[in-house]
Amino acid sequence: MTQDVAAVQIPDGYEAVGSAHVVEQGPASVRLRAGTATVEVTVLAPDLFRVGMFPDSRPVVYPDAAIARHDWSAGEVTVADESGSLRLETGAAAVVIDLEPLRIGFRDAVGRPFLEDDPDLGMGAAGPPPLGGVPAALGRPVYMYKRRVPGERYFGCGERTGGLEKTSSHQVFWNVDPPVGHNAAMNALYTSIPFLLALREGRAWGLFFDNPCRSEFDLARRDSSRLCFSAIGGDLVYYVFSGPSLRDVLDRYTDLTGRTPMPPLWALGYHQSSWNYETAEDVEAVARAFRERDIPCDAIYLDIDYMDGFRVFTWSPERFPDPDGLIARLGEQGFRVVTIVDPGVRVDESYSVYTSGRDAGYFCRTPTGEEYRNVVWPGVCAFPDFSDPNVRAWWGDQHAALLDRGVAGIWCDMNEPTVFIPSRGTLPDDTVHPGGGHARLHAQVHNLYGNYMAQATREGLERLRPDRRPFVISRAGYAGLQRFALQWTGDNSAWWEHLWMSMPQLQNMGLSGMAWAGVDIGGFSGDATGELLARWVEFGIFQPYCRNHSEKGTTRQEPWAFGEPYESIIRNMLKLRQRLLPYLYTLFEECHRTGAPILRPLLFEYPEDDATYSADDEFLVGDRLLVAPITRHGQSYRHVYLPAGTWFHLWRGERYEGPADVLIHAPLGEPAVFVRGDAPVPLWPAMNYVGERPADPLTLLIYPAGGRGALELYEDAGDGYAYLQGEYARTRVTCRSDDAGIIVEIGAREGSFVPERTRVVVELRGLEKAPSQVLVDGQPDEATFDDGTVTVSLDASAEARTVEVRR
Ligand code: GLC
Repeated sequence: MTQDVAAVQIPDGYEAVGSAHVVEQGPASVRLRAGTATVEVTVLAPDLFRVGMFPDSRPVVYPDAAIARHDWSAGEVTVADESGSLRLETGAAAVVIDLEPLRIGFRDAVGRPFLEDDPDLGMGAAGPPPLGGVPAALGRPVYMYKRRVPGERYFGCGERTGGLEKTSSHQVFWNVDPPVGHNAAMNALYTSIPFLLALREGRAWGLFFDNPCRSEFDLARRDSSRLCFSAIGGDLVYYVFSGPSLRDVLDRYTDLTGRTPMPPLWALGYHQSSWNYETAEDVEAVARAFRERDIPCDAIYLDIDYMDGFRVFTWSPERFPDPDGLIARLGEQGFRVVTIVDPGVRVDESYSVYTSGRDAGYFCRTPTGEEYRNVVWPGVCAFPDFSDPNVRAWWGDQHAALLDRGVAGIWCDMNEPTVFIPSRGTLPDDTVHPGGGHARLHAQVHNLYGNYMAQATREGLERLRPDRRPFVISRAGYAGLQRFALQWTGDNSAWWEHLWMSMPQLQNMGLSGMAWAGVDIGGFSGDATGELLARWVEFGIFQPYCRNHSEKGTTRQEPWAFGEPYESIIRNMLKLRQRLLPYLYTLFEECHRTGAPILRPLLFEYPEDDATYSADDEFLVGDRLLVAPITRHGQSYRHVYLPAGTWFHLWRGERYEGPADVLIHAPLGEPAVFVRGDAPVPLWPAMNYVGERPADPLTLLIYPAGGRGALELYEDAGDGYAYLQGEYARTRVTCRSDDAGIIVEIGAREGSFVPERTRVVVELRGLEKAPSQVLVDGQPDEATFDDGTVTVSLDASAEARTVEVRR
């Protein structure tokens, strides 16, 4: 072995696969044998490849829990058999398979190599063949060593708080309930998404290492020229996305693992939660205060105290004696109610959820066949084996006990799963998941448990209320969780550090397919202050999921809890969130269709600009709002990096030309938010909840900057599935501006949905002087000009319109 190889840690008994021969070849795949390993390389789509290595004569069976799509079409694949090497080429990319020894590498559309096996170490398994117990079920640990192309930089890896860039890092994928006050160095948190993005000179590729066992990535940490991907067992299965843009990689990754479903519109509003709400009266008092104080709120949450002795799918007769009445009264005031559900089922002979699950054999078992039990909130619990489809169906049906009372959404918690003995522990590795005949050990299912629970919940809601879009939240999960639930990031703390960490965390999740996500605003553990809460809301209204939540016993942190000036600042911010709903909804539809993140890192839009790679603490909402929150006590100025283009300060209208480093004054209530020039932002009037009144008028806010911009506004009924039958409205709005004037064109609506509104207002900001003339469809118009803003109000019944402003 060369000296270089010594620099990487090679596990004891590691054996790289050696010479291979072809055993089967199809039009888009090849199966090889190398010693006792079977290796299969398959082209699934022109930009998507799958490699599977099944060591020690294990059968060729791919993990399927994360995979949403199976009907692939590779397109035209050219197979070239060169001496000692096979090449499968698609036009978009190629995979090159050298046989002596077996080494696999990829080429992009212009033939540049990427993700090539390390010539010395390749892929293989380590250690002696296990004789019994958990190791025998898992098989030997598997490893894959890849060469790093100099200059390549790494991103993604799911829910990580440490920053955007992952080059030179070590990543662990194993779901945990971390200790209170977790820090940026703890990279394993509640969800595991072993998905990597790489960038070099603005071109991207991706890799999904589909192994739900505990797995690790070494991203050129020990050796700057190598990557290592490993798992403690299972087979070595990975998918390669050839890009070439980040957008392409995420599009294909979410095609493979599933898209974020269209949310109900109310889910994008502000949500209020706290474990401090112990009785129905507490909840009603909070709800009333929102309306009395004119503070927007769409949903209110019931934490574990609504249950009878924390038994899931029950109601406390003392504290929540009349759930129907409570939910109906809240509904009249425009609140939806979301209830928490934990996986642990109290062992209790008089409780039908337990006895029905026990009688059907639906709970996890010890290696000797008894019901596995541990302690969670209700005391001694049994744990459903959600890996069994019958268990998922049974669990899903239990939600009738909540939905029939009027509950609108379900919050799946503690599903790493977490148990109390030992504290923040989980099920032992050798716990058996019977799997309805496909038994697996917990070590093989652990990272999937959250996904399976969220799947059971979502499918249950779909069956119980087929005309509504399910609203499901999950704390834990694996790749693909996005198709079942949104993720909130568990128990953060009311610390400035955790406010900072939220930014890379949500951007990393957005880059890993988990676009619908949010952190607890104000922090869960510990006591917030008025300043921290206000700053957190200034950030939080730009999260795809916007919820304030806190731990029992902490200082109350509802929007009014700290008095003035915080209450007014928070009210204004939440009203801005409401105003932004048509923009957010448009971004959700884009995400649903293409996997593009909603809250996205600058590097997603500007991958050629490597100054964006370290912009951890600012982000884009879509492609036209740039947000740079204050995350320190007492600060009111901050540095902002503005990428190429023209940017306007949202509150003061100042114009900036990027790329530029600027110092921005951001006093409380005026966070540093910028709008991209010429890019229309759709706004509704501020409402206190979705549906309070028609969203009329629709405002198109534009800062003309001497260029071109466009918006593809998406609208539909905001719930249900009529949009699948064409009942949606897609409207293209363009803006062109130059020295002579500004032309805004509103295109004809595509789709049969007719938004309920009478006016469309075009608001052009940042003009130096009054225009000489404003024309609507060629006719002079009574537009107003005030403080640099031209406002044109259009009758919404007319479809395609042109507004022309002459300077
Ligand atoms: C967990 C959840 C938290 C919830 C609490 C009580 O800590 O993460 O959000 O409030 O349990 O149910």
